Order: sequence, then structure tokens, then C-alpha cells
Amino acid sequence: MRILVTGGCGFIGSNFIRYYLKNYPEVSIINVDKLTYAGNLENLFDLSHAPNYYFIRADIADAARMEELVRKGIDAIVNFAAESHVDRSIEDPSSFIRTNIFGTFVLLEAVRKVSKEQKIRFLHISTDEVYGSLGKTGAFTEETPLAPNSPYSASKTAADMMVRAYFHTYGLPAIITRCSNNYGPYQFPEKLIPLMVSNAMEDKELPIYGDGMNVRDWIYVEDHCRALDCVLQNGKEGEVYNIGGASERTNLYVAKSILDHLGKPHSLIRFVADRPGHDRRYAIDFSKIKRELGWSPTISFEEGISRTIEWYQTHREWWKKIKTGEYLDYYRRMYHER
Ligand code: NAD
Ligand code: DAU
Repeated sequence: MRILVTGGCGFIGSNFIRYYLKNYPEVSIINVDKLTYAGNLENLFDLSHAPNYYFIRADIADAARMEELVRKGIDAIVNFAAESHVDRSIEDPSSFIRTNIFGTFVLLEAVRKVSKEQKIRFLHISTDEVYGSLGKTGAFTEETPLAPNSPYSASKTAADMMVRAYFHTYGLPAIITRCSNNYGPYQFPEKLIPLMVSNAMEDKELPIYGDGMNVRDWIYVEDHCRALDCVLQNGKEGEVYNIGGASERTNLYVAKSILDHLGKPHSLIRFVADRPGHDRRYAIDFSKIKRELGWSPTISFEEGISRTIEWYQTHREWWKKIKTGEYLDYYRRMYHER
């Protein structure tokens, strides 16, 4: 089996490739990544000489390159490539439109063009943010109406709709997954958990938006990779599967538990201006994937957060190298000039 993974040098993509090649050594993976600020070749350095792993630097919005690649006899595409950070989408949505919407369209078109000669399963990695925001109770099901609130989530929603349309119109064998907030090794330190962990390790302030009572459902990235494996193997074409971690926590709780793990004072927490249009609460009903594919999360928040903190403690060089240059400009704009 040959799988084309897009965005494999990012956080979830790199964890997925490592998970997949460890569990299926007979599979070949072609990783197509543009290497934006979030793509890092070091994330898969250990696989750079593996005989069944190939890296190609390319943009998913490049139609000629994508068609050339899908003609290489692949069996499946797992589309992780995206601009993924909500705050950056608020600053400048243009790259989100180009990659998340147009890039997904280009991939779908490439698959459609070869569909008479080759069957390629298309696994599209989406997000729970397409459903918008919840009140104090309830959880997103696959039937929840789509109501995205940020340019990021709107771009992911548009891409989901194109994937859906290609299934219904052209019979393209596509499946969509919508997962909640991931955390774990190799996550870029602009996202809440790696930002809080690395700042706390450097005795820097932990910026919390608004009142800190926004809730996210946290899933350890390995559990997400296992869910994607189940969907890729046994998911039904044309379907959507929600994936969640059964670990709802407020942002303030997350920040405090990181400080407690590291033995640092809560006084490092600094409340800053809220994110515009900040979704209040996400929660996932993952009963469909549990019932149909037998998947459930296995790693509790407590276990996952201590594994994650340990990883950032033993990989200081990885994140210290990132937290320079362009990153510092971004950080200044985010927290000091908002
Ligand atoms: P990330 O930002 O860490 O990685 C994205 C990767 O895509 C990077 O390697 C980047 O170089 C690459 N990329 C960006 N634009 C590209 C382009 N035009 N062509 C080729 N490659 C390109 O993101 P992540 O957190 O690993 O998220 C991966 C996917 O999972 C995204 O589609 C995201 O929407 C989705 N998702 C993320 C989460 C989460 O909590 N992080 C949760 C649910 C869904
Ligand atoms: O729900 C899935 C989504 O989770 C993915 O689709 C996105 O790609 C991913 O980035 C993530 O989006 P969030 O906006 O939920 O993640 P983020 O880590 O940016 O923020 C998590 C929460 O923490 C959110 O309520 C905002 C808050 N926050 C974030 C940062 C970076 C802070 O309070 N302070 C911060 O410095």
C-alpha cells in the first residue's frame, strides 16, 4: 500500500507518519509538504533514511505537481496540509483560503482526473471547529449544523463541503474526520499547551485569553492517529467521523496543571485581551466512531499532559530553535500589540 500524506512535517502529520510506519512497516509513505513556518523536517529526522518513506517539498495548491504525484500509483491520500492556527487566520486569512480551500480542491481534482484508472481513498482531516461554539451543555455530533466563527474554521468548513460535493457528484471515495484539540510531541509552540509548557520552563508569563474559562476537549495526538488508522482502514466512504478525547478542560485549568507539574508559581499566569470571536466551548460526541469502528481514546489528560511535558523537557533544542526570529515577531504582535 502507498499513501500520500500531505502536511506530514507538521504536528499531527509527523506523529501520524511515525505511528503508521511503526505499525505497518510494509506500507510506503510519500510526504508532501510545502514547509511553511509550521513544517519542520526535524520532526521526521529519524525516518529520513527509512526505505519506505519519501519526502517531497511541494505546495498542495500546485495542480501540475499534485496530478503528477497522484499518478505515481498511490492507494490513499491523507490530507493534513493546512494553515492551522486560529490567531494567525484572524491576522491574515489569505493563506488559509489558498491552502485550506483551494489546496483541498486541487487535490480533489487530481484524484478525480485519475479516477477512471485508479481508485484513491481520500481521507480529509478536518476539525470540530466547523461546528462553531457550544453553551454549557451538549456535544457536537456529526449532524450538528456547521457554524464556523473564525477565518480558519470557515476555510476548513469550505474544504469539507468540497470533499462532500466530490463524493456526491463524482463518487470520489472520500471520508472526513473532525477531531478536537490535539496535544503531544512536536506541536508548534504557538498553540496553547506547548506555549504554556515552554514559557513555564523559561519562567516566562503564560498569556491566557479573556477569563480563561473557555473549554476545549483535549486529545493526545497518538489517540488521534489511532482513530485515523481505523477510519483509513474501515471507515465508510462519504461519511464524517467525529473524534474526541473525552477530556474537557478550561484553559485556566490547563495552565495551572502545567505550572503544578513543573513546580512553578501560578503567578506566571497573565490574563490578556481575548481572541476576537473566541469560541466558548467545544465538546465531542464520538459515539459513531466508537460504535462503528470500535475506537475510543485511551490516554487520559493527566497521563497525556505528563508525557507531553516530559517530551518538551527532553527536547529543549527543538522548541528553542523555533522560538526565535519570525516567531518572536509573531509573539510580540499577539500579546503586546493587540
Ligand atoms: P501544523 O500547522 O502543525 O502543520 C501543517 C503542515 O502543513 C505543516 O507541515 C505545513 O508546512 C504544511 N502545509 C501548510 N500549507 C501547505 C501547502 N500549501 N502545501 C503543502 N503543505 C502545506 O498543523 P496540525 O496541527 O498538525 O494540523 C494538521 C491538520 O489537522 C490540519 O488540517 C488541521 O486543520 C487539522 N486539525 C488539527 C487539530 C489540532 O488540534 N492541531 C485538531 C483537529 C484538526
Ligand atoms: O479544536 C480543534 C482545533 O484546535 C484545530 O482545528 C486547530 O488547528 C488548533 O489550532 C486548535 O484550535 P484552538 O484555537 O482551540 O487552539 P489554541 O491552542 O490556539 O487555543 C486553545 C485555547 O487556548 C483557546 O481557547 C484559546 C486559548 N489560548 C490560546 C493561546 C495560544 C490562550 O488562552 N492563550 C494563548 O496564548
